[in-house]
Amino acid sequence: MSKVILNNLNKIFEIKAGTDVKAVNNFNLNLEEGEILALLGSSGCGKTTTLRMIAGFETITSGEIKISGKLVNDLKPAERNVAMAFEGYALYPPLTVRDNIAFSLMKEKISKNEVDSKVKEVSELLEITDILERYPPSISGGQQQRVSLARALVRDSDALLLDEPMSQLEPQLRAVLRARVKDYIQHNNKTVIFVTHDQTEAVALADKIAVMEEGDLKQLASPYDISSKPSNVFVASFIGEPPMNILKAKVLKTETHLTFEILNDKDEKNFSIKYSNNELNKENLNKIANEQIITLGIRPHKINFNKETTNLEGKAESSTYHWLGDQVHIGIEIGGSSIISVADRNFQPSSDIKMHFPSESINAFNRDSEEVIFNGI
Ligand SMILES: Nc1ncnc2c1ncn2[C@@H]1O[C@H](COP(=O)(O)OP(=O)(O)OP(=O)(O)O)[C@@H](O)[C@H]1O
Ligand SMILES: [Mg+2]
Repeated sequence: MSKVILNNLNKIFEIKAGTDVKAVNNFNLNLEEGEILALLGSSGCGKTTTLRMIAGFETITSGEIKISGKLVNDLKPAERNVAMAFEGYALYPPLTVRDNIAFSLMKEKISKNEVDSKVKEVSELLEITDILERYPPSISGGQQQRVSLARALVRDSDALLLDEPMSQLEPQLRAVLRARVKDYIQHNNKTVIFVTHDQTEAVALADKIAVMEEGDLKQLASPYDISSKPSNVFVASFIGEPPMNILKAKVLKTETHLTFEILNDKDEKNFSIKYSNNELNKENLNKIANEQIITLGIRPHKINFNKETTNLEGKAESSTYHWLGDQVHIGIEIGGSSIISVADRNFQPSSDIKMHFPSESINAFNRDSEEVIFNGI
C-alpha cells in the first residue's frame, strides 16, 4: 500500500520580485508502506524543504501530497499523523527527557505500562537511559538530537520524517545507532523519509535513495542501482568515494573493434581505450555511433591492475589511504589525463603503472543531455 505520494510537488520561495528561489521542482514519489527513503544531495538542493512540505511546516507552491491515501495539502502538521525529528522542532524545556518522549504517546490510547516499556526500549536503543530524569536545556546537543529521534520513533504514525537525525553524533556512535535504528524501523514496519548529505548513511539505511540537485530529483532508485547504474552525469559524479572519473571521449567503431579516444580540453587525443567487439554487449554497442563525442565515466573501484590483462600505462601521481585504512586511492596520469583509481596496494609516486579498464567499468553518457547511454559495455 502506498504511504506517501508526491505528485508534481513544487516550492518557490518568493523573497522579493525577481529573486525567486526554486527550491523544489516537480518532485514525484510513491513510497510503499515499510519503505525507507533517503533524500540525498548537497547543501541547498531542497532536501529540508521537501521534508517540511510533507510535514506541513512549509506551504506548497503547487502539487499534491497524499499520506495513507489522504490528500493532506491543507492539513496542519498535527493533523497529518506524521512523526518527525527536525532541527528547530524543539523539545519541551519544562518536561523531563522521559516525559518528552512519553508525551508524544499521549494521543495513543495505551496503558501507562506500555508507555513505560516503549520509552525504555527506545532509550536503551539510543543510549539515553542515564538522562531520562533530566531537562532538555541541561543535556548536550547530541543528546537532545537522540531524544528528538526517540520521541519520533516511539509514535505510531503513518510516516516518520527525519532531517539529519544523527548529524551531531560522532562517527562511531552514529554507525552503531544507525544499525539499531534500522532494525527498529524494519521490525516495526515504519515508513520513513530521512534527509542526509552523507552517502554512507543513505546506503546503509535506505531501501531507496532520491538524489537531488538544485531542486531537481536526479534519480530515485535502490542504493545498488544509484551506485552501479547512475542515470546521469550528476549522479555518477556525486555518488561513490572516490566518485566516477568523468572524461570526454570520441567513439571509433570498426568491424572488429571499439575505441574510445580520450580527449583533452582542446579536443586532442590523450590516450585510447580499445576493446574487441566480441567481448562487448552488442545492444550497447549499437547505442553509440562512429565518431560520436560522449561523456565517459570510469569507476575507480573497477580499474584492474592484474598483470595478465593490463594494456594501458600511466604514472602514479599521488596516493592517499582510505581513512579506514583498507584501500588506497591513487591518482594516475595517462597521456595527459588524470584518473583516480582504488587499489588494494600502494604505488610509489612517479612509478609506472600498468592497468586495464574492464568493459564493465565503462559508463557512457550523452554529451548534451548528460543522460545515460549505458552502464558497463
Ligand atoms: N524560508 C526560506 N526563504 C527563502 N529561501 C529559502 C527558505 N528556506 C530555504 N530556502 C532556499 O531553498 C533552497 C533549498 O533549501 P533547503 O533548506 O531545502 O536545502 P537542503 O538541501 O536542506 O540544504 P542543507 O543540506 O544545507 O540543509 C536553498 O536555496 C535555500 O536557500
Ligand atoms: Mg537541510
